[in-house]
Amino acid sequence: MSLLEVREVSRSYGSGHTQVTALENVSFDLDKGRLLAVLGPSGSGKTTLLSIIAGLLKPTSGEIRIDGSPIQLRTAREAAAFRRAHVGLVFQEYHLVPYLTAAQNLLLVPHLDGRVTGADRERAANLLSEFGLEKRARHTPSMLSGGERQRVAIARALMNDPEIMLVDEPTSHLDTERGRQVVDLLRDHIRGRDMTCVMVTHDARMAEEADEVLRLVDGKIVQG
Ligand SMILES: Nc1ncnc2c1ncn2[C@@H]1O[C@H](COP(=O)(O)OP(=O)(O)OP(=O)(O)O)[C@@H](O)[C@H]1O
Ligand SMILES: [Mg+2]
Repeated sequence: MSLLEVREVSRSYGSGHTQVTALENVSFDLDKGRLLAVLGPSGSGKTTLLSIIAGLLKPTSGEIRIDGSPIQLRTAREAAAFRRAHVGLVFQEYHLVPYLTAAQNLLLVPHLDGRVTGADRERAANLLSEFGLEKRARHTPSMLSGGERQRVAIARALMNDPEIMLVDEPTSHLDTERGRQVVDLLRDHIRGRDMTCVMVTHDARMAEEADEVLRLVDGKIVQG
């Protein structure tokens, strides 16, 4: 059975003549250990799809199953608890806490779950150095470049050892070389831990690093 099953998911925004169909009948499956790149131009529905898989947004119709269980039956509180335990989320705008350092942003994950241990600190330090940020651990987001913030957000999403990583445009602020390195790191984590990852990007070069590619145009999956 696939870890992630997306079945005929549609989503529209608004009503009447301003109604926008952001997603139309999107279906796919994703197995453990796989990295899927969702490729598509601006406005094609990529962030909408990621938000629906994360349980942050309800589809207008269709169904999402994670590990066989349909996510739309969950209450907002259940969805949030599930995300904290099983999902690593990287938003397009990072959502780092501005007054915390890079290291503290990572430690926020165990902190919200109750207690920060020595092992958590070690894990945070290891992740930061994996992403080339060991010299930036004590910097707050405003002291970091766009690409550094992006890497902090990815490292933070890996803190809780998620089963499923949902990453929105992880390389938009990185040059090609650094972008590839970040996607390679992400892929190593995924393969090493049997994790599943949906990575949204409009950059076809980053999609080359993925195991599978899905193309969206105007909210619909297109072939090729
Ligand atoms: N909250 C909203 N209210 C109304 N329309 C929305 C809303 N969010 C998104 N849309 C519309 O839905 C469509 C898909 O948006 P979405 O953000 O999913 O695109 P995207 O592929 O992530 O684009 P980008 O690459 O620019 O981030 C767009 O036409 C957008 O204008
Ligand atoms: Mg987007």
